[in-house]
Amino acid sequence: MSETDRPVIITGNWKMYKTIEESLTFVKELIPLVESATTSVYLAVPFTAIKSVAEQAKGSKIVVGAQNMHDASDGAFTGEIAASMLIDAGARFVILGHSERRILFKESNDVINRKLKRAIKEKLQPVLCIGETLAEREQNLTAQTLSVQLTECLSGIEASQLENLIIAYEPVWAIGTDKSATPAEAQEAHHLCREWLQQAYGENLSRKTVIQYGGSVKPENAKELLEQPDIDGLLVGGASLSADSFSKIVNLT
Ligand code: PGA
Repeated sequence: MSETDRPVIITGNWKMYKTIEESLTFVKELIPLVESATTSVYLAVPFTAIKSVAEQAKGSKIVVGAQNMHDASDGAFTGEIAASMLIDAGARFVILGHSERRILFKESNDVINRKLKRAIKEKLQPVLCIGETLAEREQNLTAQTLSVQLTECLSGIEASQLENLIIAYEPVWAIGTDKSATPAEAQEAHHLCREWLQQAYGENLSRKTVIQYGGSVKPENAKELLEQPDIDGLLVGGASLSADSFSKIVNLT
């Protein structure tokens, strides 16, 4: 658990799973299970479920968000969604730069930078995902990859605009593979991120920024990850799809 006053935030990332009805069944089940949790509970749900889940979760601990958005305020972008529309539906945060978006939908650091600027402008809390591939780790390029991603994604953004920023360190080789990073590997990467923040933005932001770990987090490995000094929360994919396993992770601290 973090040694500072940083909050612990556990986020579920449902990816492209759950209809509205399935989402509501999940939330009804989850609410009583996380009622006395000491952590913050975030759920990144499909666009179609945001409004219903936000209404259902009103008055509970659950904060509802989205998994992606476009960087423009509005316009002729068929099939895209704007930050203002997400807020209108009840979203309070948005995941940006997830590796599935980077790899499958060719999102560059430059695009993610523009999305971050838009989220900040519209007051939607950004969760910036970064992480190295297996090839980069094997070539000892983890530190360099994280540094380039942070530099390019946060380019032109001032410390005062990053008060709400969440960083999610998600090694690509650990996502959906059942091969989580070890607590020591994750801690080392989180520490690099915190050092990068310190150099780029100073002590205050570095100390305050929540850095989540993501990649094959399960109830069985979550506690040890959360015990690392620079790990302030978790971004959970597969294990967030059942209220039982997700609530077990939420209730560990
Ligand atoms: P996973 O996904 O927990 O299924 O590995 C994590 C993520 O992609 O955010």
